[in-house]
Amino acid sequence: MKQKTPDPTKRTTPSSLGQIRDVVIAVILLALGAAIVVIYQVEAGKAEPVSIVKNTGGAASQMLGQGATGAQGTDALSENPLDRWVAGPHSNTYVVSADGTNDKCNQCHDPINYIPSMEDMPASCSVCKFKVEPPPPLTEPVNAHQVDCKVCHRVDSGGTVLADVTWLEVAAIEQYADVSTVNQLCQYCHTGAEAEGHADIHIAGAHENMACNDCHDPHSMQASCTSSGCHDSLEEIPGHDADHAKVHCVACHDTTGMEVGPDEARGGLWVTFAGEGDNTFPHLSHALGRESDCSRCHVEVLPGKYK
Ligand code: HEC
Ligand code: HEC
Ligand code: HEC
Ligand code: HEC
Ligand code: HEC
Ligand code: HEC
Repeated sequence: MKQKTPDPTKRTTPSSLGQIRDVVIAVILLALGAAIVVIYQVEAGKAEPVSIVKNTGGAASQMLGQGATGAQGTDALSENPLDRWVAGPHSNTYVVSADGTNDKCNQCHDPINYIPSMEDMPASCSVCKFKVEPPPPLTEPVNAHQVDCKVCHRVDSGGTVLADVTWLEVAAIEQYADVSTVNQLCQYCHTGAEAEGHADIHIAGAHENMACNDCHDPHSMQASCTSSGCHDSLEEIPGHDADHAKVHCVACHDTTGMEVGPDEARGGLWVTFAGEGDNTFPHLSHALGRESDCSRCHVEVLPGKYK
């Protein structure tokens, strides 16, 4: 192997070439210095205590404020996601609990105003470890953002809601987490509420591998067994008849043995109930199967009729 060795005959004497080299080195040093200052400032910015107090506003309210009506006259619901959202349950989720607070409830009912406690902060939230102001116990209706577009979509700097779905993990700093399925997104709120009158949505049985938005419009949230193109021509059998016009499909096809009975809010329609004892409340089962047992209702619930 041939080695590169300095040629002893070449002497380094000051020359015009040497001066150019010195200038180049000086420029490089200056640039390095500037870069170090910039990096230092960025790091300092990161290290500054982040006080998470105020949310950054909702996308739907902004669009509505900019003249979009969100209204749907007498016509069928428009295709516009904003119109559908306004007509659906996610545009009207404001709640206050019995003790006059909603800071905990906001996790699902108004995520833009929700501030997790230090223990509940996601590990990914690097700036959150510094300082988290506790949220005000009550968000007034005027400051509420419902389940805003931003909870499920990023909004670009021009205010456009981007179609991909994602999850607003830490609202105050607009940190998003990727979701692998739409179900994962919906289940951030439709499972795990430790509050009275809430029950988890669990898809099981016949629809196990289906996505929430296979059945629900993702903005109006409407879903129907019979006008979905799936069950619009049911086998004519006892159960699928006029006698049972007031019985919801799920009351017969639930596979989990939930209680069944009439729901006054639905005009006496028979549905499934969640909860126990005196604390049961209507909750439509999503664990459905083909089988259905007449005696579920006609022996125990409607005694005397079909013994
Ligand atoms: C983990 C998410 C989550 C939390 C936390 C939560 N909720 Fe809910 N809440 C929901 C969902 C989802 C629904 C819709 C339930 C359904 O119909 O299956 C709901 C429905 C309700 C309803 C019925 C709405 C209506 O118009 O009939 C009330 C009332 C309610 N919640 C109050 C509260 C209160 C009060 C708190 C705080 C103490 C709270 N929720 C905390 C997710 C949550
Ligand atoms: C609870 C979550 C959720 C909220 C809130 C929500 N979306 Fe969506 N959005 C979805 C899902 C789910 C899809 C369907 C994604 C798919 O098909 O993969 C979707 C799709 C879209 C699309 C793509 C095309 C279309 O028309 O379906 C647009 C645009 C959109 N949403 C805009 C909005 C706007 C504007 C708002 C607020 C008014 C909003 N979304 C609120 C969940 C949400
Ligand atoms: C940020 C939390 C959140 C997310 C995410 C979310 N929801 Fe909801 N959803 C709610 C709350 C809160 C309500 C209760 C609204 C009310 O007050 O009635 C609700 C209501 C509903 C209802 C009406 C319930 C009823 O009793 O009539 C349906 C259906 C629904 N959501 C489906 C979905 C689907 C499907 C997705 C995913 C595309 C989804 N939700 C994502 C919070 C959420
Ligand atoms: C009063 C009880 C009852 C009600 C209400 C009811 N079903 Fe059924 N359903 C049955 C019975 C019983 C069978 C036959 C089960 C078997 O094959 O063992 C059946 C069978 C089915 C089947 C399989 C046979 C077929 O037609 O493809 C489907 C799908 C079905 N039901 C869907 C529905 C839907 C959707 C609704 C609501 C629109 C509904 N059912 C309402 C009792 C009911
Ligand atoms: C196979 C179709 C189907 C799938 C999949 C599905 N749903 Fe439903 N869902 C329905 C139907 C149908 C209703 C009843 C609508 C009605 O009768 O008002 C309903 C009702 C609901 C309700 C209202 C419950 C109540 O007690 O009033 C909620 C909340 C809901 N779905 C959430 C979800 C979520 C979240 C997912 C995904 C994890 C999901 N659904 C998946 C068809 C479906
Ligand atoms: C989820 C509950 C439920 C199930 C399961 C159920 N039914 Fe019913 N059934 C009802 C209700 C509610 C009525 C209406 C009673 C009324 O109008 O007073 C009814 C009415 C009837 C009637 C008319 C009786 C009358 O006096 O008007 C017949 C017949 C009947 N059911 C047969 C069946 C058969 C057969 C099955 C099994 C395939 C079945 N039912 C399953 C709830 C149920």
